[in-house]
Amino acid sequence: MEIKLIVANWKSNKNSAEAVSWLSAFLKPERAAHKQYVICPPYPLLSTLAGLITAAHPANVTLGVQDISPFAAGPYTGEVAGPSLFGLQVAYAIVGHSERRIHLGETSALVAKKVASALHSEITPIVCVDRDQITEQANHLTADERKQVIVAYEPVHAISTFGGQEDPLETTLEAIANIREAFGANTPILYGGSVDKENSLVYLNEPSISGILVGKTSLDPVEFAQL
Ligand code: PGA
Repeated sequence: MEIKLIVANWKSNKNSAEAVSWLSAFLKPERAAHKQYVICPPYPLLSTLAGLITAAHPANVTLGVQDISPFAAGPYTGEVAGPSLFGLQVAYAIVGHSERRIHLGETSALVAKKVASALHSEITPIVCVDRDQITEQANHLTADERKQVIVAYEPVHAISTFGGQEDPLETTLEAIANIREAFGANTPILYGGSVDKENSLVYLNEPSISGILVGKTSLDPVEFAQL
């Protein structure tokens, strides 16, 4: 059975105490062996969570970041470069999330630099795209980079903060076909946008979908553990 990736995107939510209690509630029940859970907290909470995960070393749980600097380590005030993440159990970096594209004006060219930067630090990029960004984003990556990324298809209208309007599975499957054409036949593809307990199986039972990227539902440890 293919291992499905269940990614929590906490966005700009939670403080250190809340992260600790979230993790302890999340680790209580048994988690499905065929699922890999990735928690992407705000940067200041990474170190606390990494320490707890290192101590408990739960099966199938790792960390990710919600963004990564396009630059190497050096004089880039405020940026968090790949090498600073060493030793923090960070296996994945979300890049090009629509909230960053919309609120901070991130372009596909900048996202491509972040992909290179993550790969340089042996962190797997999860590249977020909406339908109209698929080809453009793929064209900004080298053939070698395209082979190493995970793509998250996140229709903006489906994201809870932008309306949470469901994307029909048919439309999602069309976008997935476009992503495979642009990025590669074997690219792992996640679906994101208002995924919850009720609709998660629609996506997780779909063989062409390798997992889900979860915002709002991931804020509750019990609900997230049930996905
Ligand atoms: P949502 O967010 O699950 O709250 O819609 C998903 C995302 O933005 O990654």
